[in-house]
Amino acid sequence: MLNMLLFFHMPVSKNILLQYTKLVDEVNHHNELYHKLDQPKISDYDYDLLFQKLLDLEKDHPDLDTSRSPSRKAGSTVLDAFQKHPHRKPMLSLSNSYNEEDLLEFHGRVQKFLRSEDKVEYFAELKLDGLSMELVYEKGKLVRALTRGDGLIGEDVTHNVLTIRSIPQSIQHKGLLEVRGEVLIFKKDFAELNEQQAELGLPEFANPRNAAAGAIRQLDSKIASRRPLKFFAYALGEYDGIDFASQAHTEKTFKDLGFPVLDDSLICITNDTDKLIAYYKKIETQRRLLPYDIDGIVVKVNSFKLQEELGMVARSPRWATATKFKPEKVETQIEDIRVQVGRTGALTPVAIMKPVKVSGVTITNATLHNQDEINRKDIRIGDFVFVQRAGDVIPEITEVNLSKRAKKSEIFIIPLKCPVCGTKTIKEEVDAVSRCPNSNCPAVLKESIKHFVSRRAMNMEKVGDKLIEALVDADLIKTFSDLYQLNSAKLNQLERQGDKSISNILQSIERSKPTTLAKFIYALGIRFVGEQTAKLLADHYLTIEKFIDSSKEDLETIPEIGPKVSVAILNALKNKNFIKEIRILIKSGIIFQQSARNHSGVLTGLSFLVTGTLPVKRDEAHQVIESNGGKLLSSVSSKLSYLVVGDDPGSKIEKARSVNVKIISWDELLKMLEV
Ligand code: IVH
Repeated sequence: MLNMLLFFHMPVSKNILLQYTKLVDEVNHHNELYHKLDQPKISDYDYDLLFQKLLDLEKDHPDLDTSRSPSRKAGSTVLDAFQKHPHRKPMLSLSNSYNEEDLLEFHGRVQKFLRSEDKVEYFAELKLDGLSMELVYEKGKLVRALTRGDGLIGEDVTHNVLTIRSIPQSIQHKGLLEVRGEVLIFKKDFAELNEQQAELGLPEFANPRNAAAGAIRQLDSKIASRRPLKFFAYALGEYDGIDFASQAHTEKTFKDLGFPVLDDSLICITNDTDKLIAYYKKIETQRRLLPYDIDGIVVKVNSFKLQEELGMVARSPRWATATKFKPEKVETQIEDIRVQVGRTGALTPVAIMKPVKVSGVTITNATLHNQDEINRKDIRIGDFVFVQRAGDVIPEITEVNLSKRAKKSEIFIIPLKCPVCGTKTIKEEVDAVSRCPNSNCPAVLKESIKHFVSRRAMNMEKVGDKLIEALVDADLIKTFSDLYQLNSAKLNQLERQGDKSISNILQSIERSKPTTLAKFIYALGIRFVGEQTAKLLADHYLTIEKFIDSSKEDLETIPEIGPKVSVAILNALKNKNFIKEIRILIKSGIIFQQSARNHSGVLTGLSFLVTGTLPVKRDEAHQVIESNGGKLLSSVSSKLSYLVVGDDPGSKIEKARSVNVKIISWDELLKMLEV
């Protein structure tokens, strides 16, 4: 007997204990990054693997003290700033699986538990990658919206959820109904949102889920109201007055009550596991074409009677599983880590890798962002690493294959001096990157000049990147205005410049002189002043002298310019050399033509915003509007006169409706011009 007890309660070795404590800390850390800060540092897939390791360890060593373990909670801890509210029914999470075999195993477990050879009907749908939400309706009214919180107690985020237009605020059901589902942002809206963030000089979001979660976790509902949040309903909490029989019946009822649910074409109801697997494979291949992010499928036993019989295990129901998709990861080797210096002096480490194909695209470079990121992943030159494409696009090194690390490899540290000019770099606490503070640094100069001559700025078509690099290296240009002092004699000093190309270059520089105030301000490269902001500034100040004299007070009267941007503008204008340079540029012959906006055009006094795919290019549409006197705005507000919509418009259309902005098509706009 004693022996048996010993056998079942093997004391936990020091080694296991150490391994376990480390895992608990690690999972808790990632939970906090994901749920509290909305800044995940590892992929969901890696998180799941880590979590599974933790569960396995706990299963193999029942003596472990699990009181601090994240396995005892579903999801995250509750944010303090919000009112907490218990869920009438716990909000569970799903067990994860990753492939067809796992899916078949799930089916095996269901059959075994039900002790039935009968076929079980499954309801399979998309696993939406947003954040889960519970909507509580009492007497037909939306009275509360709760996040999942720790599964038992949620955070009351009703004020933010009320801004989501696709969520009904009242329904035709007079009893209690708790509708659960996912809040998310569509990919297209996300791209627009990030464009706006960049334009306003704000950090871009890593992915749609973080942008959605970030909005929901704000105390100020204005932020959520400006973010294009959507909702899909897929599960029930507590309810009365309706006899729900199955998942299919539930979603049909949700739909009839006015909730957005997944389209029938994206759902598979079947009792045939082959069909289930075919559905999983089909969705995986079509995933990129969907308008929102998903990270797998969810398979649920359709009948509620059977669901009840199956019950729960640990923190998940036995009647459902999430079968996730694996991101395609490929192994390659880092040949070098180069530190690049950007226009703002930011030092960015970039891994140069042996070329490798990931999801159909050959990849050689991947940004390593900053020192913290390098430390966290411990990435070194010569390492074998796994790469994937984040959000299906940007190459990202996920981890190092340590088993292949060379014995003599060295930790990589970003130099404390600028790799180009040798100036000591500066790292401000709020900044993740260190910067070269030398405004005469050749790298900063090269990048600033590349921006100055770019198409949307001074548009010097024949002045390419290579030429700029050669000119700076040969000391032929040190400032923007030096471009206008170039002549054939100077250009002849460069290697491989024929007469024809020299004359093309000089012509291209000459042709850039007539420009608009907006393009000129944009070309100057003031931090956070994007194209749209430059236009607003030009519209407001009308002349370069008035812009140079701008004060904090009048910058703040421009509605779309925030404090961060105005501080950056004022800092630039305080710099005597910067002002001197502007004056030299004007003396070199730059002249401001009236902007494309024609102040006597038929659209004068009206403002426009274009969204969706038009029959013409976006740039062209903007030009037509401006050349007829119309003003372009970057967001929908009651100040906007017209929203011009094309195919697949994003959420702006709903926003426009809610603030009574007129919505017109491109053809209707063209008709306005015919007057
Ligand atoms: S059903 C018992 N259906 O997945 C759980 N969940 O781990 C009932 N999710 O955070 C949830 N799409 O937010 C269900 N079609 C779907 C889902 C889905 C995404 C999320 C849910 C939760 C997680 C479960």
